[in-house]
Amino acid sequence: MNAKNSSMTDALKWTGTQLQVLDQRVLPEEIRYDYYNDAQGVTEAIISMRVRGAPAIGIAAAYAVVLSVKVHYSEHNSNWQQQVKADIEQLRGSRPTAVNLFWALEIMNKAMDVENVSPIASLEVLAKKIHQDDIAANHTMGALGAELLIEAKGVMTHCNAGSLATGGYGTALGVIRSAYKQGLRKIYAGETRPWLQGARLTVWELAQDGIASTLIADSAAAWLMKSGVIDWVIVGADRIAANGDVANKIGTYSLSVLAKQHGVKVMVVAPTSTIDWAMVSGEQIEIEQRQPKELLNDCYLDEHSLVDAWNPVFDVTPAYLITAIVTELGIVLNPSEVNGVKSLQ
Ligand code: MRU
Repeated sequence: MNAKNSSMTDALKWTGTQLQVLDQRVLPEEIRYDYYNDAQGVTEAIISMRVRGAPAIGIAAAYAVVLSVKVHYSEHNSNWQQQVKADIEQLRGSRPTAVNLFWALEIMNKAMDVENVSPIASLEVLAKKIHQDDIAANHTMGALGAELLIEAKGVMTHCNAGSLATGGYGTALGVIRSAYKQGLRKIYAGETRPWLQGARLTVWELAQDGIASTLIADSAAAWLMKSGVIDWVIVGADRIAANGDVANKIGTYSLSVLAKQHGVKVMVVAPTSTIDWAMVSGEQIEIEQRQPKELLNDCYLDEHSLVDAWNPVFDVTPAYLITAIVTELGIVLNPSEVNGVKSLQ
């Protein structure tokens, strides 16, 4: 592995004819890209979590629409738009919580409806723009969020909201990268059970960039906060409601409650594509439930087992527990006191 080769950590690579997806299930042991030529394949890659993280899921879906148009479009096929829309419907069903998926599909769907002599080329331009805009937003958020960390002694992050979860640079990890350049050194990552995004992805991604971090068991977070070593918890988001409630990886709510108790601040970093303006509050957000087998020991998997598992993979943190929501359009401080994120509109 070449620690300086940042292209190694790209979650997605578009070649013009196919989408290459880094299989995040096998990191950090193996760096393996799977190649997709159609929307069905990309749908499966999202369901199986080869690609994960809200912005990366949205970008993958946008490229999947391009692949679908490449498969179905021809001057002699008057039905191609219906066939692409059927693929879009499948993509919509891949994961329920990350709103970037639905946001990107809506943009692609609308663009497809516009009369166009070369739909493949124009939709490809659009998907690449969604990708590039996400990277640019991450750099802007990185700089904005780092300004809040000038005095910070230490930070903790949860899940993986890095380059691996986005078009590149990352949201929460983008802020941490920018703050690292200004001197931040104490960086803690929670393991993020059960899928271990923190243990397998975040500490690896930071190390690839030459940034040292310290892994903790999720259950060590309260004790870490009590020790006074960190002043911020910094996370990404899968969906932000208009009132500032935030759906993110399961455990974010627990960390925010603990943070309140210990005087630690909570920063949510997400592009405006993660805001669902139609959701009045977080109570309406659908929380994905994944298979019990992600949690259970194999010996409990047979049908007569008396042991089941409850595996919600996101939770909702109410706005009143959040100190700052950082977007590419600006920072909303204390969102519960300022009418949520509406000031960004
Ligand atoms: O289940 P995952 O790994 O897709 O969940 C990812 C998260 O919860 C991230 O924190 C969120 O998508 C933001 S990524 C910039």
